[in-house]
Amino acid sequence: MTFTPASTAGAGPATALGESVAVAYPNIALVKYWGKRDEDLFLPVTSSLSMTLDIFPTTTSVAVSDGPADVVEFNGAPATGAALRKIETFLELVRAKAGRTERAVVVTANAGPTGAGLASSASGFAALATAAAAAYGLELDPRALSRLARRGSGSASRSIFGGFVVWNAGEGEGQAGDLSSYAEPIGGDDLDPALVVAVVNQSAKSVSSRVAMRQTTDTSPFYRPWAESSVLDLAQMREAVARGDLPAIGEIAERNALGMHATMLTARPAVRYLSPHSLAVLDAVLALRADGVAAYATIDAGPNVKVLCTRADAAHVAATLDGLGDFVTTTTAHIGPGVAVTTPHGALSVGGDR
Ligand code: PMV
Repeated sequence: MTFTPASTAGAGPATALGESVAVAYPNIALVKYWGKRDEDLFLPVTSSLSMTLDIFPTTTSVAVSDGPADVVEFNGAPATGAALRKIETFLELVRAKAGRTERAVVVTANAGPTGAGLASSASGFAALATAAAAAYGLELDPRALSRLARRGSGSASRSIFGGFVVWNAGEGEGQAGDLSSYAEPIGGDDLDPALVVAVVNQSAKSVSSRVAMRQTTDTSPFYRPWAESSVLDLAQMREAVARGDLPAIGEIAERNALGMHATMLTARPAVRYLSPHSLAVLDAVLALRADGVAAYATIDAGPNVKVLCTRADAAHVAATLDGLGDFVTTTTAHIGPGVAVTTPHGALSVGGDR
């Protein structure tokens, strides 16, 4: 691996001999990834743009073992079924790249809710890719690490990096697509926004984003128009980030996310993640804007709403949303760092702070 010196040293727990521990943060897309052109290689239809957060990290340790099978502990309990298979499949990919065959012991825990549309798979696979690559001795630069993380969960490609990040859809299929589809930081260093995460339901979603994406791309008559408009959204979003224009960023993010949900609502059968509580939060965001507060909503594959605003307005936005009732719990995030890893050789920041 190619590392830069750590600025987040000590972020993870102490390492046992031969063990690598990575800490990665979720990211929230402001221009969404929704739809794959290749399901096996996780090649997206469109490029996306996100902000890495400083809350809800995933901490993952990987130790190469001489046991007969991979052993995975997930949020304090043994992983089984589909969750275990997903991690085993990912470890197989890492082993194939590293030319190794030994199994691993993986211990992973999310500080935030899992599978609730709060990007736990982004932080999860960014941490797993980084810890597993280090444990198996794979020499990867951040771009290659982003491509590897992509194979666990598309959005994980972006969590390798801190700050504002674009995941390039890349061009072509097969190896050409694989090589050209990676995330990279895009600056935006003048921006210091807050993201007020309004959790209205902590439970894991009943339809995975993978299934919902497929259903949408395959059946929604609104999918193509959204994908085409998303290309324009990304171009305008890049400009808005470059000039540090938070209201423009918010407007583009909100329309892009609502458009994505429109594609799901028009899938056959429809996929609906939005609940009455999500709509109550969206109404409150509109009311805040009517009062002159620059607050803008985005929603992923779940009912929870994230509200982008200035750091100075965050407390007022959070209090307003908390005031809606017991069904809302807010947590305020700011810009977070890229993935960091601790190996037996020391602690290193891989993806940079922003
Ligand atoms: O990478 P996945 O499978 O968790 O899909 C993420 C999809 C969205 O969160 C809805 C959008 C995005 O770009 O993160």
